[in-house]
Amino acid sequence: MTAQQPEDKNKDRKKKPLASREVFVIMDRSLDPRLVVYHDPRGSLAEQYRFFRTRLLASNQEKAVQTFALTSSRPEEGKSVSAANVALVLADLPSTSVCLVDADLRSPSQASLFGVAPGIGLSDYLTNDKIPLQDLVLPTRLENLSLVTAGSQTTIPSAHLGSGKTEELMSYLTERFHYVVFDTPPVGAFPDAAILGARVDGIVLVIRMKKTPRKVVETSVEMLRRAGCTILSTLLTGADSDKYWNKIYKSK
Ligand SMILES: Nc1ncnc2c1ncn2[C@@H]1O[C@H](COP(=O)(O)OP(=O)(O)O)[C@@H](O)[C@H]1O
Ligand SMILES: [Mg+2]
Repeated sequence: MTAQQPEDKNKDRKKKPLASREVFVIMDRSLDPRLVVYHDPRGSLAEQYRFFRTRLLASNQEKAVQTFALTSSRPEEGKSVSAANVALVLADLPSTSVCLVDADLRSPSQASLFGVAPGIGLSDYLTNDKIPLQDLVLPTRLENLSLVTAGSQTTIPSAHLGSGKTEELMSYLTERFHYVVFDTPPVGAFPDAAILGARVDGIVLVIRMKKTPRKVVETSVEMLRRAGCTILSTLLTGADSDKYWNKIYKSK
């Protein structure tokens, strides 16, 4: 965030009356421009994410949703960007703390989306008994939003996610945060999302409009259900073209 020096501000004030001064909102450029909820909170995309938040929080009649994972059938369907924006709309609720966990250990994105140095993350914790849980949770530039990055090990076996360490992490995070959001790899490629999905309250299945074939979505749903996952909601991406999102991305 770029801030004006206090002396400069005073100089400006003397020069021009308030009404004719232009107002600039200087956003933090280290946050990826696709975090539309942050960069354009009044825009229609942010509005759609807020609408999704309402639907998601009402999606489980038996238990209030606290932990959930976003996944999809294939890569490049918008899981990570959606997970980040969903985490942001949740963190926007009054007095609400959120932890976003990058559990896509094969193709991590969240550290880079939030402009955070990846440091020690989930994969390091899962493979090393000496890493204390409190070291995993990193602050972001948003007060109510914390991040657990994927860490440095990109080739660890999926079975690690099914270990008691994941349970420990889960209880640690649910005791400290109102919501815990997991970004995961695609269901069609790795068992990770199904393994993790069975340990959270439910799954948000991301479907890329006009790209993910119906049959592929049906297979993913079947796989997740067989693994014991509850599907809370679907989230459709791709209503706005790739070109549109690429334009947002390139405006960085
Ligand atoms: N809602 C959306 N609609 C269209 N494209 C999107 C949307 N969200 C993200 N994208 C674009 O899709 C690509 C993949 O997004 P990403 O979130 O990294 O996918 P995944 O995590 O599923 O691999 C990115 O180029 C991103 O800009
Ligand atoms: Mg991703």
